[in-house]
This record gives sequence, structure tokens and C-alpha cells, in this order.
Amino acid sequence: MTAASAEPRREPIVSVHDLQVRFQTTDRRATVKAVDGVNFDVRRGETFGIIGESGSGKTTIGRALVFLQQPSGGAILHDGIDPRALSRGAFQSHRRDYQIIFQDPNAALNPRMTILASVLEPLELARIGTKAERERQAREALERVGLPQEFGERYPHQLSGGQKQRVVIARALTLRPKLIVCDEVVAALDMSIRGDVLNLFADLQRDLGLTYVFITHDLAVVSHISERVAVMYLGQFVELGPTEAVAERPLHPYTIALLSAEPRPLPSAMRTDARIVLQGEVPSPIDPPSGCRFRTRCPHAQPLCAQQAPDWRELKPDHWVACHFADRPNFSPS
Ligand SMILES: Nc1ncnc2c1ncn2[C@@H]1O[C@H](COP(=O)(O)OP(=O)(O)OP(=O)(O)O)[C@@H](O)[C@H]1O
Ligand code: SF4
Ligand SMILES: [Mg+2]
Repeated sequence: MTAASAEPRREPIVSVHDLQVRFQTTDRRATVKAVDGVNFDVRRGETFGIIGESGSGKTTIGRALVFLQQPSGGAILHDGIDPRALSRGAFQSHRRDYQIIFQDPNAALNPRMTILASVLEPLELARIGTKAERERQAREALERVGLPQEFGERYPHQLSGGQKQRVVIARALTLRPKLIVCDEVVAALDMSIRGDVLNLFADLQRDLGLTYVFITHDLAVVSHISERVAVMYLGQFVELGPTEAVAERPLHPYTIALLSAEPRPLPSAMRTDARIVLQGEVPSPIDPPSGCRFRTRCPHAQPLCAQQAPDWRELKPDHWVACHFADRPNFSPS
């Protein structure tokens, strides 16, 4: 079922069709279905959030979006282009438009390289411009993320965690990407500076027209920065919609449980009265439950849920869900 949205939707910068990513276990006896049939668009200029428990497949999707992970099935179109159709040279240039930033800036920065050398490195590898042009671009990127010029001569151990993450952002910016996947980018930072770094992301988006995919465990971060959010469970999306709608009128029992379990203060829209404690362990992505994957922990499961996987449907304008009973008037998850 589809419903028309009140506002025209922006064109997608990335279109994901039935994405599947599988891994062999180390003993090669089983297959981990890390991502198993995910469909979504990321719209140009938006911040698209992905939330879900540990191991649900968020990072795997992020890595696939920036060509670090080969899909096992399905397709990802970037600006309508299937990378499989590009020559090697065209692909190398195309992939620079899509960057990723991870949680730990220490892992991204070489401790033996100065900050300026680290920021210069992607430009040098891509052989962009002359040496002088590259240095100017790198210094501009450092300035843009709010670091004084003299930081260029320092080494990573001479910077705070927040400053190091700014360097990593500057490094990604030098290649002038269209889209940046931000994977738990504030999770390792002190609470006191998370807001500053999130504001920096927002400023850069406004000034440079960037698109973000923001991956996080943290519902408060999602509510602060994302226009739309997808909720992931065991390799699949269970809900996707405008952040406000998902937070205020969630359709899926898993989303409702996630919102209720958040221990820290949330914006009023995201607070729920009663905490819902999900029973049971998260099943293995090697052998997920039949039918609806959430059924082994869902307080509303019915026999049908074991027999048939729910369709991914647009139940309200721009608001998608995978649950057989999400549209029943008497379906009131508690
Ligand atoms: N290279 C790999 N080889 C085998 N299994 C993998 C590999 N990478 C990820 N997985 C498995 O795929 C599933 C999804 O992992 P992923 O890292 O995408 O989860 P996540 O949602 O990002 O979790 P977290 O919130 O802990 O970062 C997990 O079961 C994980 O163990
Ligand atoms: S389909 Fe069934 S088990 Fe799955 S979320 Fe809906 S009610 Fe729960
Ligand atoms: Mg992850």
C-alpha cells in the first residue's frame, strides 16, 4: 500500500534496493545475514538516521553505502549510477563523493603524522591539484571545522577527543563529498562536547549542502539531528519515517520498546510513560526466526507472525513499517 505525501519529496542521492550483505562465519559453516533485504532512499541534503541494537547491521549498511562492503545481493545506486557499470577510473573518482567517519578518531589518525599531514593524505592519494593547492585545501578544511592554524603542526596525542574528531571531519571534507556516513561519531566524546560536534555537523551541512547518514544507538542524537529515521532489527528495517512521527507516533512494537528503554532524558516527544522490557535474547542473524523476526520478543505476536514475514508498507505518508498489525485500530502496544 502507498500513500501520497503532502510535500514533494526531494530526489534521492542514494537508492538502496533489496540490499543484502552476508558473511561467512570463521569456520565457514554458517552464513551471517547481517543485512537482509533493506530498501530506502537517502534524499539530497537530508540527515537520515539509523538506530537499532548492537549487531542489527547498521555499520554494515554504512560501509556498503561508501563502497567499503560489497553487497551480496540487491543494488545501491549513487546519483542513479550503479557502480558496477563504471570503469575502474570512473569508479575511483565517483567513490570520493561518499565518505564515512567512525566512532574512534584514534583509529582514523596515524599517531606519527602531524594533523596537517593527516588531512592532506586523502588529497595526495587522489592526486588532486598541486602541492600548494592541496595544502591550501587542507588548511581551509581545518579552519572550517574550527581548529586554529597552529594545530596543523601538532600530533594526535596533543589534541582532545573532540579536537581529534574535528580533524577526522576535516579529512573527510577535503575530498568535497556529497554524502558522509557518520557511524556513532559522538559516542566516544564527553557529553559536554557532543552538542558542539553535532552543531558543527549541522553548520557544515548548511554551508556545504552535505547529506548525512547518521548511525547511532543514541535516540537523543537522532532526535537532535535527523529529519528521517530508520529503526533496524536483526538485519532489516522495521520502521522508517519522519523523526517526529516515529518518535511521537511509532508504529512498530520494537520502536515503542526502544523509546521506552532510553534511560537518559529525551525531548518531550520521545518520552513514554512506561518502560517496556523486551523478553528473550536477540536471535542470531545466522538463523533468524521465521515470519516476523521480532516475533520471539514481541508482546503482540500472533500465529500469523510465525508463518509470514510482514510486508514493508507505507502505512502513513512517508512512514513505513513492517508489522502485520500496525494498522489495526485496536493494536495498541503497551
Ligand atoms: N566481517 C564480518 N564477518 C562476520 N560477521 C560480521 C562481520 N561484520 C559484521 N558481522 C556481523 O554482522 C552483524 C551486523 O554487524 P554490524 O557491525 O553491522 O552491527 P551494528 O548494528 O553496527 O552493531 P553495533 O551497534 O554494535 O556497532 C553482526 O552479527 C556482526 O557480528
Ligand atoms: S508482525 Fe507480529 S511479531 Fe512482528 S511486530 Fe507485528 S505483531 Fe509483533
Ligand atoms: Mg556499528
